[in-house]
Amino acid sequence: MWNEQNLINLLSERIKNNCSKYTGCIPNAVANREGRYECQTGGHWTDGFWPGMLLLANVCKKDDVYIQEFEKYIPFFEERVANDPEVNAINGYIGLDHDVGFIFHLTAVFHFRLTGSAVSEKISLQAADALAARFQERGAFIRAWNDWEHDTPEFRELKKGKAIIDSLMNLPLLYWASRHTGEVRYAQIASCHANTLMRNIVREDGSTYHTFQFDPATGEPKGGKTAQGYADDSCWSRGQAWALYGLALNYRHSSDEQMLATALRCAEYWQRSLLPNGDAPWDFAAPRTERLPIDTSAMAIAACGLLELASLLPERSDLLQLARATVRRLIDAHLAPASLEPNAFLLHGCVGPSYFKGSQEEATGEYGYGTDQPLIYGDYFFYEALLRLNNSSVVLPWF
Ligand code: GLY
Ligand code: GLY
Repeated sequence: MWNEQNLINLLSERIKNNCSKYTGCIPNAVANREGRYECQTGGHWTDGFWPGMLLLANVCKKDDVYIQEFEKYIPFFEERVANDPEVNAINGYIGLDHDVGFIFHLTAVFHFRLTGSAVSEKISLQAADALAARFQERGAFIRAWNDWEHDTPEFRELKKGKAIIDSLMNLPLLYWASRHTGEVRYAQIASCHANTLMRNIVREDGSTYHTFQFDPATGEPKGGKTAQGYADDSCWSRGQAWALYGLALNYRHSSDEQMLATALRCAEYWQRSLLPNGDAPWDFAAPRTERLPIDTSAMAIAACGLLELASLLPERSDLLQLARATVRRLIDAHLAPASLEPNAFLLHGCVGPSYFKGSQEEATGEYGYGTDQPLIYGDYFFYEALLRLNNSSVVLPWF
């Protein structure tokens, strides 16, 4: 029977073994079903999770091997944050968008805080500037995505007015930049954007849209749209997990009580929407067929968010209980077994592409790529949840 401590030991060893397997590359976001990540080509929103995991392991195990391995990635992050179109084209990097927090906060900012590295400080401030520059005065939101090569003209126009729920997790980068530089504008942008999302992307019942559309000319709110969920008016479970964790983190930085209350409403919706066995379906409105994909990454993210909320609301012992039950379920039903010689920690993640809707996969129950597979962010948040459970004052990148 696994307990937190011996599982942390096992996974920290697995991280150490993975160092030689990845040899300086960034693992793909999605592993194969045996739990093996290949090295990715290009750069994505997930670039920060493996190097970030090395820093978490260093904090937990106090072993310099992890930080030395992390430091091999610093030239990559320097190149990535420069966001040079030519370099991006040569390497297949996706240009920087709202996701700079996932990429640079878990890595450069945390490394700077742990070591005082001047290079990581510079990368962190460049990343914060890139995020702040996306703020749209009309509508008061941070723009989600850039123009992509194959966009239709209509989609390109829509994107000018698009905000996304994932971005709540990127705002701690801006709060850090304000604290570090003394410039209030970063924190003002973060709290303005979080407020806009809280008012528009979270519904009355505590469920959430994945993205939200504003009229780019006037800033007027237009309505919610999905990108990775089942339908525009459904609730994509990883988006719900980003919301409950992201709003709790924003409360910690902004002390805005409404943010805490909204995070709690999102957590309560999450709790009452789980399957009877405690799993999260990839979308809470997806048809409950026998082969309904579940998303262990959403469960790991939600467990971290619930632990954050439980630390803010110690009288709500149900939050801690649910977080513990979620981690227990991940361990009992979804841990990648040693017999697979996996790099991954958790099986059964789901990327959640919107093409499921009405698709052959949905009709036949034969869901394809990106379902029932480990996800690097699921592993990151599972490891974080274990560290939090094991030591409630563990040093984390988020604050
Ligand atoms: N977070 C990845 C995206 O914006 O699609
Ligand atoms: N859009 C980022 C994610 O898949 O959560």
